[in-house]
Amino acid sequence: MRQTSIDEQLPEVVRVYRETGCSARGTAEKLKVSRHTIMRRVARAIELGMLSPDEKLQWGEIAQMSYESEKPDPLFEPPSLVQEDIPVEELIERRLHDFQRKAEAYESRKLIPIKIKEPGPIGLIVFGDPHVDDDGCDWPSLLRDVEIAKKTPGMVAGNVGDLQNNWVGRLSRLYGEQSTSKRQAWQLTEWLATEVPWLFLIKGNHDMWTGTGDPLDYMKIPGQGVLEAWSVRMALQLPNGREVRVNCRHDFPGHSQWNLVHGVSKAAQMHYSDHILLAGHKHVSGYNIVMQQDGMLSHCIRVGGYKKYDSYAKVGGFEDHNFASSCVCVINPEAETATGLVQIFWDVEYAADYLTFLKKKV
Ligand SMILES: [Fe+2]
Repeated sequence: MRQTSIDEQLPEVVRVYRETGCSARGTAEKLKVSRHTIMRRVARAIELGMLSPDEKLQWGEIAQMSYESEKPDPLFEPPSLVQEDIPVEELIERRLHDFQRKAEAYESRKLIPIKIKEPGPIGLIVFGDPHVDDDGCDWPSLLRDVEIAKKTPGMVAGNVGDLQNNWVGRLSRLYGEQSTSKRQAWQLTEWLATEVPWLFLIKGNHDMWTGTGDPLDYMKIPGQGVLEAWSVRMALQLPNGREVRVNCRHDFPGHSQWNLVHGVSKAAQMHYSDHILLAGHKHVSGYNIVMQQDGMLSHCIRVGGYKKYDSYAKVGGFEDHNFASSCVCVINPEAETATGLVQIFWDVEYAADYLTFLKKKV
């Protein structure tokens, strides 16, 4: 084969081409010629057997070059405009940052440690669904419980959700069936949310209907307790080093017509080795104790709530199983038995008396 001046350049082109990992762009930059020139040299080198088929151009470069070669020259100079969209690299940075924050927020809530400063026995009064603006809300019981929560030494309070009816969408028509207005509903809700030094407040389905910008998020909760949507799981770290875990959900999944506390018990049997599991939502009361394998007792409780007279239950023909709007879990850190560590009372006044007695005794 006759040698041409181009062929004489090929050994050097092939050497640089191999050095740059078969990159036409890299070879072109090093030899200070165009990529198209390198493409032609490479094709010739392959024809002469100076390059093996494995050393062909990287496909991405070939595609880019053929695309570029098909592009016609524009007839005008394209304008340089600032794009309104966030550049994708910056968008990915933000996504990484937001995911990191979400992960930290989520993980830190799996079991929230709460240091209890009160020495000796404490009581946890658990308010069932209040629905404060409903005409069927049992205000005498609610006021009694608020007073007990505020005045009993060693008593802390929690709520399982549904502070108010908070009708939205098609359900807004139901404001026509109650004597309180939406505005009054928020007045009553704010009163309850800020009257009691809450250890925890859960938002139930009725509260969640508010969506984003929920006024509850901006209310100053006394005691700076935990306000969470749907559920909260806490490890109460008692001053003597003992820990009592409290797991409250507006409702636990699972239902049985024969056992009103079925979903809560199922959670204790299958997922959570916690001392106290609490739910509300169904406006019925129920209680079950699950013994864990290590002998620990899980108290599974559904509190009935304050909506004593319920037209929805009447329409559905639901029997009244709401025997207690609230309950009290008395925790005695000094107890020597599993049964003595946590005791459940369905009469809050008896519970307050017992707690006061126990605090004097210990
Ligand atoms: Fe409710």
